[in-house]
Amino acid sequence: MLDERGKNLDCPALPRHGNFITSRISRGGADKMRIRIMTDFHYALHAGQAEDLFYKEYIKRFFGEGPEADYYVSLGDLTQNGTEREYRGAFGMIDSFGIRDRFLHVPGNHDLLQVDAGQTERWGSTPPVSEGNGCVDTDAATLLFLNTCQTGKPLDWGGRIGQAQTELLRSKLSAAKGKPVLVFAHHPLPDTTALSDTTMMRIEEASPLIGVMNEAAGPCLWFNGHNHIHSIVRKDSWTFVQTASVLCLPCWREIVIADDAVTVGTTNLNDAQLDELAGQSMDRFPSFHRVPPEKAAGTAADQSTDVPIGKRYK
Ligand SMILES: [Fe+2]
Repeated sequence: MLDERGKNLDCPALPRHGNFITSRISRGGADKMRIRIMTDFHYALHAGQAEDLFYKEYIKRFFGEGPEADYYVSLGDLTQNGTEREYRGAFGMIDSFGIRDRFLHVPGNHDLLQVDAGQTERWGSTPPVSEGNGCVDTDAATLLFLNTCQTGKPLDWGGRIGQAQTELLRSKLSAAKGKPVLVFAHHPLPDTTALSDTTMMRIEEASPLIGVMNEAAGPCLWFNGHNHIHSIVRKDSWTFVQTASVLCLPCWREIVIADDAVTVGTTNLNDAQLDELAGQSMDRFPSFHRVPPEKAAGTAADQSTDVPIGKRYK
């Protein structure tokens, strides 16, 4: 399948990793896959040492704490200005943990302020995502990565989605036949998670995509960042999970796919020193969408959810 520029959007084969996690989740049944998500890292190279301390400490904990994950996902805005130096700096930290082949990144609007997704991937190398799009098909679930960002648009941070991406989603939903479909993107759909009722805080001109999504039998989950606030909303076959920026609220989400459910949980680090370092970093970004931690955390309902997998697939 080709996009508007003739790029191939078909899903490349990806070798599976054998070390699936066997820890328990809430609903019973064997765990098949674990995915850890972070978003809106906004890495920038600052003059001072303190700001780098935040990024290094957070990344160390993201990769090092808790059960090992099959995949580690960044939902965009990995960098603040999208420069080559920032990309190489961020991926230098990530590389030090030796699990690049399990780290998948979709671009955010900040990541594409300078160049397109293809160029940033040549700097960062994040297969199987290519031009911001990609897919991992497994027995447990279909993981679909979509680039919702415009390139070089500092004054328009709203999302866009192309026809080829919409058709790719349609084909994956059709093939799923009850198997969970998990979509990873930077922007939310309109009128779903917190702030997505506001211009540029969502995918604009999303009607064709929404039409395809409405045809889905489920279970389907859409994971996004961008709005810097935890939020979970369920609509028909879809569960929308928005995650706060790690600068506003040092945290990550954890997805566990088991026989009978997809479970999403949250780890908020609650570390005063890390919060202080994050605050110092945000102080250097005059226009940063800074959300106070108590607001970024959302409500109790925004911390976790269980999405049952129907008998048809089991
Ligand atoms: Fe952001």
